[in-house]
Amino acid sequence: MSDLADKFRRHVAQTSDSPIGLEIARAEGSWLYAADGRRYLDMIAGIGVSALGHRHRAVLAAIESQARRHLHVMVYGEYVIEAQARLAARLAELLPSPLSRVYFTNSGAEAIEGALKAARKFTHRDGFVAFDGAYHGDTMGAMALAGNPTFREPFGALPGPVTHLRFADANALAAIDGKIAAVVIEPVQAEGGVRIPSTDFMRALRERCDRAGALLIFDEVLTGFGRTGKLFALEHFGVVPDIIVMAKALGGGLPIGAFAARDEVMTELAHDPPLGHITTFGGHPLSCAAGLASLDTIVAGRLWERANTIGDRIRAGLLAFGDDKIVAVRGLGLLIGIELSGAELTRRFVAESIGQGVIINWTLNADTVVRLAPPLTISEAEVDFALATMLSALARTSISSQGRS
Ligand SMILES: Cc1ncc(COP(=O)(O)O)c(C=O)c1O
Repeated sequence: MSDLADKFRRHVAQTSDSPIGLEIARAEGSWLYAADGRRYLDMIAGIGVSALGHRHRAVLAAIESQARRHLHVMVYGEYVIEAQARLAARLAELLPSPLSRVYFTNSGAEAIEGALKAARKFTHRDGFVAFDGAYHGDTMGAMALAGNPTFREPFGALPGPVTHLRFADANALAAIDGKIAAVVIEPVQAEGGVRIPSTDFMRALRERCDRAGALLIFDEVLTGFGRTGKLFALEHFGVVPDIIVMAKALGGGLPIGAFAARDEVMTELAHDPPLGHITTFGGHPLSCAAGLASLDTIVAGRLWERANTIGDRIRAGLLAFGDDKIVAVRGLGLLIGIELSGAELTRRFVAESIGQGVIINWTLNADTVVRLAPPLTISEAEVDFALATMLSALARTSISSQGRS
């Protein structure tokens, strides 16, 4: 074990007993380069963050130029900061009307918290509805929405009341009543195993929220910015939420989150009390500058179209494996789920694929589903390398799983 790996093991707080533990020397485009000289194709883009790949030149130039001017200057919301104002205006232009006011945070989970607070104040109600399989982050409020009790229950009482409904089941929507402040949903569930609801369901959900006077919150933390083959996944359904939550690819590789809503909803956080949600580093100038450059690059290149063609190539390639260990392949754009026939098989497949140089991972709430979310800029040659490696990994996984069982 290297000295750095030893420090990581002994002093960096661990999130599990089995971290991947790859010692990163540098990253470029779709590739991670390890300290031992090996390189790895990043088929998850830092979990949906690096939409333009690693160290995209437009993002680096924006960071350098912003760093020459200023870094942090004041808590969020007090000074006029060029990168922040420009990014907010650009988002307002790209989001459907009336989502014209943007609140910047540090992360996706913090943006979820802000959205929940705004919904409670706007509706004067307490209840929330979320869905089985959901993942919205790990702060207390976001965790209360989590669709998998395994991740909620060890932490005791969480903010609520939260009612969990069956995902994509229109019959369950009657539970949304006059006590509900907001319904929170991922337009495509990622950690839930890459599950896509029907347009009919999403429209019925919008109608039910309107009838009950509940706000509809779309969590587009993972699905935003071209990932699903549209700039925002909401475009697949023709449904406009009351609040949209964003993060991950929003910062081009730097940390940032945001939620956007119409004026009357967002103004709730500015009055009674004023400063109802404040954050020191939310909307950091460096993150906003990087985010603006990233967003402009995605829009100028219409990279969501690329997500569709490359996504189709990956899905077709996976189906051509003809391997009966693959139960289903699904997804939209470059958010792809590969459902395998068992959890242990899935775990071994992921480990084997990483060992062979292609980074993939499984999803938190569906342990038989492998999620792919590569950079939108991934080349066809890189996709072919990923497919060949996953095919070989799958073949070896069956040999070793038979050998060990
Ligand atoms: C759909 C979704 N919502 C919220 C979050 C939380 O975002 P963050 O990790 O930035 O707090 C995530 C993170 O994976 C996510 O996938």
